[in-house]
Formats: sequence, C-alpha cells, structure tokens
Amino acid sequence: MNHCVKTMENKKFVVLCTVSLTFLLSIATVSAFVEELDDTFKDTRMPDEIWLIQFYAPWCTYCKQLDPVWYEIGAELKSMGSPVNVGKVDATAHTNFAKEFRVGGYPAIKLLKDDLKYNYRGPRTKDGIMGFADRVSGPVVRALPSQQLFQNVMSRHDVLFVYVGGPSDLKEKYISVAKELIVHTYFFSAARNILPKAVTLKEYPAVAVFKDGTYFLYEEQHDGDLASWINSERFLNYLQIDSYTLYEMGDTSKLVALAIVDERNPTEESIRYKTMVERVATEYKDLYSKEFQFGHMDGNEYINGLIMEELAMPSIIVLNVSNDGYFLPPNKVETKEQLVKFIDGVSKGRIKSQGGNGYYQCFIRIAFNTKTTVTNIFTNAPLLGAFLVVVFGGGGSAICYGLCMAWRSMRNTEAMSDTEDEEPITGERMEPKQLKGPGEDKKTETKAKNPAEKKAD
Ligand SMILES: *[C@@H]1O[C@H](CO)[C@@H](O)[C@H](O)[C@H]1NC(C)=O
Repeated sequence: MNHCVKTMENKKFVVLCTVSLTFLLSIATVSAFVEELDDTFKDTRMPDEIWLIQFYAPWCTYCKQLDPVWYEIGAELKSMGSPVNVGKVDATAHTNFAKEFRVGGYPAIKLLKDDLKYNYRGPRTKDGIMGFADRVSGPVVRALPSQQLFQNVMSRHDVLFVYVGGPSDLKEKYISVAKELIVHTYFFSAARNILPKAVTLKEYPAVAVFKDGTYFLYEEQHDGDLASWINSERFLNYLQIDSYTLYEMGDTSKLVALAIVDERNPTEESIRYKTMVERVATEYKDLYSKEFQFGHMDGNEYINGLIMEELAMPSIIVLNVSNDGYFLPPNKVETKEQLVKFIDGVSKGRIKSQGGNGYYQCFIRIAFNTKTTVTNIFTNAPLLGAFLVVVFGGGGSAICYGLCMAWRSMRNTEAMSDTEDEEPITGERMEPKQLKGPGEDKKTETKAKNPAEKKAD
C-alpha cells in the first residue's frame, strides 16, 4: 500500500495498484476453497471424504503456475456442490504425507477416495483436472437405465465403454479394470434393450466401445486381456495429440502416426498434411486401427528433443512410445497413397526404427538436451554459462553416465510396480515411462525402490 500512496500522482500507477489489489482480493476469496493440508491429515480425515490434493514444492515453478487454476477448481467444485474437497500440501515440509501418496515429482495431483489413491497425469488445465475429479469421485461403473440416457451420454463422450448384460464373470472383470482405469475414461453398463437397434451382439454379455461413429466389441481370444484392450481403445482413432496425451499413450501398445504442424502458422500445406493423416485414419481403419493411433501435433519442440534434430514442419513421423523409437519416411510424403505406403512399410517392418532407449541413445539424448540448455544459457547469460563450463566441464561425462544409469533403473522400477498394479488394490497406476512427466519438476530425492512398500497403502 505504501507504494501506492507514494506514486499516487501518477494515474497509471493508481490504476495498476487498484488492479493488483482487486486481483489479490479475488485470489484471497477463491483460495478460501482450497485447504492447506499437513501431516495431521491422516488423523483428521473422515473415512468417506473425497480429496483432490496438489503436492507442491515451494521452489517448483510448475506448481506456482498451477495455483490460480487450483483455486478456481476449489471454488468451482464448491459452488457445484461437489463432494470433492480440494487441498494442497507442501510435500517438502510434510514428507510422511508425500511418501504415503508416493509423490515422485511436482506438482503431483492425486485424488483420494475411500482408501484408493488416483494419480492424475493429464494436462494441467481446469477442464482436464475437473473432468478427472468428476470421473474418479463418482461410481466406478455408471448404469444407463434408459435409451434416452444412453443417447445423452453418447452425445457427451467421444469414447464410450459399455458393459452389456447382467451379472457375470466378465462384469466382475470389467468392474475391476474400471477401478484402475477410471483415471482415464468413464465406464458404463446397460441392459441389452437399451442399446440402439443397429448394434448387434454376437455374444452376450459383452463389452463394447462406441467411438468414431461406430462401435467395436471386445473379443477375448483376439484382443487379449480386457485392461490392455481398454487401454488401447480409449482414444479416438484420430485426434490432436500433445505431449501429455503422448505420454499417456505409453500404456497402449500402438504406434502413433503424427502430422507435425505449426498451428500458429497454419499454411495450406499443413492443413493438407492433417487432412491426409485423418483420411488414412478413417479410410484404413479396419487395416491399421489395431496397430496405429493417428493424430497431429502442434509444434515440433517435443519431437525435436526425441529425434535430436530440427524436424521441418509440416512432416510425418511414426513414434513407438513404449521405447522412444521413431520412423521417418525415406521419401517425402505428399499424398494419401504415399502415406499409406509409409504406414504399411512400418507395419511390415520394411522401414527400420530409429532412436530407442538403449544406453547409446540415452547418452546422445542427454548430450543433445544439455547442448540445447547450454546454448540457451550462453545466449541469455554468457557469464553464468562460462562459470558452469569451468565448474562442470571435467565432470560432464560422469554426470551424463550417472543420469543414464539413474534413468534406466528408474524405468525398471516403474515397470515392476506397473505389473504389481494390475491388482487394483490402490487404484493407482504408475507411469510406465517416467523420468519426468511433461510440465513436472523432478523430485531430487530418489524414489522408493521397493515396490512392495506399496502394500502399506
Ligand atoms: C515398439 O517398442 C516395443 C518395446 O520395446 C517393442 O517390443 C516393439 O517391437 C516396437 N515396435 C516396433 C514396430 O518397432
């Protein structure tokens, strides 16, 4: 306020002060719906309370960026009368709390319902997080008692999983898979006569997914276990893909075929590329949809980091998310026919995968990212750059080796806990590939090594 008074004669400053004061006041009002939690939470929480909790660290910039969104979410859930309580906790000060929730990076967004802890890893937007809270806090499987409700739900969801039939082993399985995958998608159940006439079921009971204007049925012999089928069918056949979505697609075993375009500079060529990928996705659905996910991505930063060079835009690339491998067309892809030829080449193994996550690639990738960072430091702060080179110059390769080792062992650990999570004891899935999620600050301490510790949940 002192500042404000001193500069009173300057009108601009008065306006500025008023604006910032209003801003501060509004923050104060909305933040009233977010509770600051601490280690006593465990003792004071009522068993039936549902909590959406952000674990933050005071130094974490992504957490600060999330704060206004978090306060808005708190206010909005409250005004909607949602049963979800919103809180945040400084995970560096309340380490027991953070350990219990297995916080691996900041900000971590978790929902606690009964004794189940659910991990959110989608985009850190209000819509994304509110959708997650709504999905996970409600019933695991939602019944659709009428045709009208079925139509209603169909019109609101792009991808819809429905169990059709009465009690059965399949239904038990469906419910247990739903408990785990509710973080990603909604699950419904309906009686047979609720479905549209056009839907014909060979077998009964059945699990169907409605998407892309049609539906697919789960066939156990052909599709393997229900959880992996749901994981690979939970995306539209063609969609806009950002680094978060890509990261989630690590769970599907599909290859991701992408048009990389610059949306800030939408040339005719880039529109043509998107259309081309979308048409192949639609017209060749029967041929490729089991093996490929199609989409476009805005900007090439993420891909550049992966392939370690500047990818021209627009371009076509196929990614193997499960091993960081990628496929580039040997010749320019300009037409739908050329794209089909390329996709077919990848599918039949004629085109070889590049990249991957072997030791060699790992070294190269870290070197590339270091180079990019160092170049940035030098451009923005040459003195600091020079200082860092003196300090770290000699130790560079040792650091690089250490990072590689840490990265690999971390991935192995995650892979182990992923298997263990098949049983939906905690309802929480670990990221199958995670050194650092997009938009997440890495925690400096090492993670729990022993997956058995989770049993304590
Ligand atoms: C993608 O990566 C997985 C995991 O390493 C591997 O098993 C699979 O063969 C790869 N797919 C292709 C087409 O290279």
